[in-house]
Amino acid sequence: MAEMKLTVLMDNNTYIDRYYLGEPAACYLLETGERTILLDTGYSACTLENARRMGGDLSRVTDIVLSHGHDDHTGGLLPFLSAFPQPVRLFAHPDAFLPKRFDGRSVGVPFDPAALPAHAELRLSRGPAELAPGVLFLGEIPRTNPLEAPPVGETLRGGTWEPDRLLDDTALALATKSGLFLLTGCSHAGICNMLQYALSLTGETRVAGVLGGLHLFESGPQLDFVLARLAQLGAKTLYPCHCTSLAVKHALCGAFDVHEVGVGLTLAL
Ligand SMILES: [Fe+2]
Ligand SMILES: [Fe+2]
Repeated sequence: MAEMKLTVLMDNNTYIDRYYLGEPAACYLLETGERTILLDTGYSACTLENARRMGGDLSRVTDIVLSHGHDDHTGGLLPFLSAFPQPVRLFAHPDAFLPKRFDGRSVGVPFDPAALPAHAELRLSRGPAELAPGVLFLGEIPRTNPLEAPPVGETLRGGTWEPDRLLDDTALALATKSGLFLLTGCSHAGICNMLQYALSLTGETRVAGVLGGLHLFESGPQLDFVLARLAQLGAKTLYPCHCTSLAVKHALCGAFDVHEVGVGLTLAL
C-alpha cells in the first residue's frame, strides 16, 4: 500500500512560533506516489505563500478537489491556476458551481467556471471517482442520519433561491495501512454520514483517522449524536479543525484521541 504525505497548507489555526499565514479557510496537500493532490484551495493566494514558506513545490500538483463550492475552499483556485501552468484535473460535484449566499452575502465559488484556464480539466461528478490508488473522491454523500447536515444559506437552482443543502459537499477517503483516513472540507454533509459512506464504499472496517472541518459549533442533539455515532463507526483519532468550535473540540477530547491542527502540520499516512 502506497504511503502518503498530508500537509495542511491552510487552516483557521496557526501554531505558536511557526510563521505561516492563517485564514478562515482550508487547503490540504496530499502527496501519493503517483499524484499530488490539493483538497480545496483556501480563501486567497495566502495558501500559495504558505507553500512557498514551507518549501513545497506546487508545480507538482496534478489534481485539485473542491470539497464544496464555498469561497473559503475555492477562493485560492484562480490564484493557483494563474501561478502554476501545469495541466491539472479539477474534481467537484456539479452543484459546487451554483451561486450560493448567506445573510445576503455571496459565498459561492468567486468566479465563473467559464473563466477557468484551459490547463484545468474540469471533471464534475456526482458519483465517486478514484483519483489515484487509495484516494477516493466520494461524490454526493447520502444523508443517512437526519440529525446531521442542516442547510446553510441558500443556493440558486433553476432560477429560484432555495435552502442550500450543500449536496456538493464531499470528502476524500484515503486507504492507509491502518485503515480508512477521511479528509473533509467543512462536513456540511455530516461527518458521520461521510464516514459511514466512505466505509461502505471502500469495504474498510478500520478508521485510521479523520482530519478536517466538522461544521459543529454548539452542544446539543447533533453533537450528542456525532459523539455516539463516530465511536460506533470506529473513529478513535481525530484532527478537528477549520469550522469546529473550541466547545466541540473540548467535547471530542473527552471521547477521542484529539490532535491540534494548524498550518504546517504534516502527517505520514
Ligand atoms: Fe462551507
Ligand atoms: Fe469552510
